[in-house]
Parts: sequence; structure tokens; C-alpha cells
Amino acid sequence: MRPARVLALSMAGAALGACAPAPPDNAAAPETDTVATDVHTYANYRAVRVDHLALDLTVDFDTRTLSGTAALALEGDSPRLVLDTRDLTIHTVLLDDGAPADYVLGPADPILGQALQIDLRPGTRAVTIGYTTSPDAAAVQWLGPAQTAGGERPFLFTQSQAILARTWVPCQDSPAVRFTYEATVRVPSGLMAVMSAENATTKNADGVYRFSMKQPIPSYLLALAVGDLEFRPLGERSGVYAEPSVVEAAAWEFADVEEMMVAAERLYGPYLWERYDLLVLPPSFPFGGMENPRLTFATPTILAGDRSLVSLVAHELAHSWSGNLVTNATWNDFWLNEGFTTYIENRLMEELYGADYAAMLAALGRQDLVATLEEMGESPDAHLLLDLEGRDPDDGMNDVAYEKGAAFLHTLEERFGRKRWDEFLRGYFDAHAFESIDTTAFVRYLRENLLDDESLAGTAAGLDVERWIGGSGLPSDAATAESDAFDRVDAELDAWTGGRPAVDLVVDGWTTHHWLRFLRQLPGDLEPAMMSDLDAAFGFTDSGNSEIQCAWLVRAIRHGYRKADPALERFLTTVGRRKFLRPLYRELAKTDEGLTRAKEIYAKARPGYHPISTGSIDQILGWEG
Ligand code: BES
Ligand code: ZN
Repeated sequence: MRPARVLALSMAGAALGACAPAPPDNAAAPETDTVATDVHTYANYRAVRVDHLALDLTVDFDTRTLSGTAALALEGDSPRLVLDTRDLTIHTVLLDDGAPADYVLGPADPILGQALQIDLRPGTRAVTIGYTTSPDAAAVQWLGPAQTAGGERPFLFTQSQAILARTWVPCQDSPAVRFTYEATVRVPSGLMAVMSAENATTKNADGVYRFSMKQPIPSYLLALAVGDLEFRPLGERSGVYAEPSVVEAAAWEFADVEEMMVAAERLYGPYLWERYDLLVLPPSFPFGGMENPRLTFATPTILAGDRSLVSLVAHELAHSWSGNLVTNATWNDFWLNEGFTTYIENRLMEELYGADYAAMLAALGRQDLVATLEEMGESPDAHLLLDLEGRDPDDGMNDVAYEKGAAFLHTLEERFGRKRWDEFLRGYFDAHAFESIDTTAFVRYLRENLLDDESLAGTAAGLDVERWIGGSGLPSDAATAESDAFDRVDAELDAWTGGRPAVDLVVDGWTTHHWLRFLRQLPGDLEPAMMSDLDAAFGFTDSGNSEIQCAWLVRAIRHGYRKADPALERFLTTVGRRKFLRPLYRELAKTDEGLTRAKEIYAKARPGYHPISTGSIDQILGWEG
């Protein structure tokens, strides 16, 4: 349920009493019929729109706060402006003539935060808000020196997707609203600030960094990081930022970025964000990657030393088209971002490394999807189009948007042929560049520009789009996702379960993805001695590849292979990537003994995790502090 919009009156920050409920903000607008309503914002963006943001923030590592001003330029006439905030302390609100504005801050909803309602005058074109963030702002992770690679300087990064931008910037926090931005960020000297914008490549002495983002973006792509950073170029228009001890390895790992950009442009049109840089974060970053425009944020756990995990870079780069250029209008339409991106990621992998390689990745993704859908049964969370009203959007975001979304697009590709399908997709990005779109509008565009094309008569026959979008399970006409390479892996595994020692298996030329297949297919009832045989032959416990190590550690827990305990504890106390933490803690929590062990480790590890990760692990372990 949406919280009631009864706002407590406060003027210049002081609570004075109650005022009348605000009218429904987005209800009467003409667009209501054509664009789905975003249930995760208080903003009245249909009446008045923020089209430019100017931030001026000081970063204080001692108090763990950001403070300063956000000046919002407005488009449209409305007697009031309603913004999203969460855990912000508002000091002042000024109109563009410098006069203080009347404003009220609504009651706090744990998910949506508080509406900030500002009275406007006729002709008001801007407001400036003075504010300070909370040390617990959910978008901001403050790291002590010990949590960094260098160990000497603190670090900070933000993660705004899905609805956390409001915890560090008062804004219209909806993916339906786009704005350009500029920022001045003041940091302690010796540190460097970078944003999802035009960035410097060297530190400056005074610690004042200025940014400008000329392409309009939705709020969830606002991003800031501060730390002891260095830059290395990768190509003419690409490069990588990381801590000094990491930057060389990162530059080596990401050497193919320019080639990926060229491949993506060939398929989907020019890269419209000028530069593409990556920022490698400390290991507590809760995600694999985040597609902050011009500057992808990435986990260091993809630095495998053999470039085998760079599909993540392809994924985040692909968002430069699907997501950042054409954006899901609401979080219910999340699959428009992630399903398209997962599809394009695979196409890029094929372009760079060949069809067999891409097929392995697709097969692994499909295997995940089938397992997820089986678990979900008839749950509406198994639909592409979600209904996240009253929920934290983060809760409803799972494999389905990614893999079922990609499966749908692969199916369309298979039916219509690559040539026709590629033209369609290219046209879709051109037609909706710098716009937000919902599922209904996509389906309409799909029908008008592909399915109903009379020259293709019959090609769309029997394709049940409604079932793809609004049904659970995987439709039976889904394109298959299989890899011949995995037949070899499965054959070796059969030989091993049939008694051949692990050292005698034929594994020449196996890549990370062969090994992931191997580990996933391990039988469910292995004795610790069998695990030992594998470990002695292949060294999984000490694998330098985070994906392999995580997959192995899950099985080590499952099969009581206690020799991996120290590695498990090390992994859980150094890595904060939720994708790895969840399966490990879930596996531990399956037994009483494991749960006790999990809680002991978690007590130590939790302070180093991001709130996005602790939110999930608290639930798995029933953690109450
Ligand atoms: N945009 C997502 C990350 C995200 C999703 C953040 C939802 C907050 C809410 C990003 O593009 C992503 O999908 N990252 C994946 C990696 C990818 C290769 C599947 C991740 O972090 O695991
Ligand atoms: Zn993504």
C-alpha cells in the first residue's frame, strides 16, 4: 500500500502542526492513460518537472555526511513541487528570487521515505534546498581505510538504483523523469571524487571537483565515489579508475572495452555518452556492476586475472542503450532494462569471443532461470511485468527480469531472423532515445513495428506475447539455450562419478564457464572424500576466480567438506557482493550447526557489508542484531 499522504507541517524545518492531505499528485495528468504510474515516488512530476540539478556538496568522512545544496530547475507550472527524500535533514528551501519557501516534510515511510512538499509561486523556475544526509543514508557506503585495497585512506560510494537517490539528493526519484546535472564536490585533500558525469583524470590539490552531465538521466543513475583513485586509459574514449594497487590489474582485465563499444555501436547505433570509463570499487560493493552513465561502477571480484568475467562489463556497457538511453518508466517494467541488457550482453560476447562462448554463458543463465521459475511456481514475481506496489522494488528484482526477458528477445530473434530483429531493435533505441517507456508501450511498438508487419505474414503466428509478459513459467516456444561444449563437461563428470579419479579427467582448455558447469552439475550426495579428490586435483578452495570459488564453497558447505572452512570465512569477511553472499548464507542456514556458524561469521562481517547486502542477509539468518 502507498502510505497516506498526510503531511506534517514544518516551516524552515520546525514542526508546527498538521495541514491538509495533499491531493493525488499524478492522478489528473493527461499522460495517465498512456504511461504507467510510478508507485515508488511521491513526486508530482506530471505537473512540474525537474529538468536540471546543480549540486554543491561537502564530503565529511568524520561525520559520515554529505551536506550542501541542491538547486533544481523546474519545467511547468504548479502551485507546489513534491520531491522524494529519505533520511535527509532539510535546512532551508529558497525560491529562485531568494525568498524562503514554505515547505512541509511528510511522514516517513520505511521504503519511500518522506515527501518534501514545497509551495511555489506563479513563475517559479527553480528551488534551492539546503540539506545534510544521514550517516545511515542507504545509498551511501562509508568505508574505513581497512576496507580498502590501500588500507590508508577512507572511501565512499553511492548506489542509487532503485529508489535510493532520495537518501542523498532531494529529487523526483522516478525513472520517468530525466534531468541534466552539474556538481561541485568538496573532498579532503589527497582524495579524488568521480561521478556519473564528465570526470577529471588526475587529483587536484584543493579537493574541489566539478562535474557536468549534459545528457539527461533519471535519478537512479546519479552516482558519486570518493577515494584514493588513479586513472589508466584503455582507449581513446575509455579508461579505468581504481585504487593505485588495483589499477594496473584492472586496466589489463578490461583491455577489450573499446572493442566491445565498437561492436555495440555496430549493432545498436552510436554511443551517445562520449566516454565510457569503469570504476573498480572496494570489495564491499554489493553488486557486480552498476551502469552509472559514463562511469560503470564494478566489483573487484571480476578481476579474475584471465579476462574470463568481462561479460559483466559488456552488460554494464549494454545499459548505455537499454536502460540509460531507453529507460524503464517504472520499476514494474524493470525487465525492459535488464532483459534487454542481458540479451545485448550475450550478443556482445558473441561478437567478441564467438558463438560457442556466448552459448555457454546463455546456457548457464538459462539454467538459473529454470531453477528460479521452478521455485516461484505461480508467483506473480515470475512475470516479466511486475507489480511492486507497496514493496521495496529491490525485493521483486530477480533472475526473471534478466533471463526470462532475454529469453523472450532471443525467441523473437529466432522467429524473425537476426537481420530483421536487429533492425527492429536498432529502430527501437533510435525511436525512444532519452525517453522512459513502460511495458505496454513496448508491446505496442513491438506489434506495430514487427509482429503486425504484413510482409512477414505468419511469422508471429502463435506467439503469445501476453503469456510472455504476464504469465509465470517459461513459455514452451522459448528459444533453446544450450551449449555443445557442456556435453564434454557432463561426460567428464559422468566418468568421475563412475569412479575415474579427478586427476585423470580430461579438462584441457576448460574455461571458467566449463568449470562453472562442472560444479553446478555435481551430484547432490557427495561424500567429503569425493570433494577432497576434486579439490586436490583442481584447487577449487583457493581458486582466484570468485565465481568458481563461490560455486565451490556452496558445495563445500552442502557436502560437509570442512577443509574449506577457513576459505569460506575469508570469502565472507572480505567480499560484500550480494550475489555471492546470498547462496552461501542460504546454504549455511539449512542446518542448525551451519546457522550457528553463519551467525558467528556474520557478526564479524556485517559491519563491512553494504546496507543492500545486510538487508538480504538479515532476512536469511533471521538476524536481529
Ligand atoms: N542495474 C543492475 C544492478 C542493480 C539492479 C542495482 C537492481 C540495483 C537494483 C546492473 O546492471 C546489474 O544487473 N548488475 C549485475 C551484473 C550483471 C552482469 C548481471 C550484478 O550486479 O550482479
Ligand atoms: Zn543490468
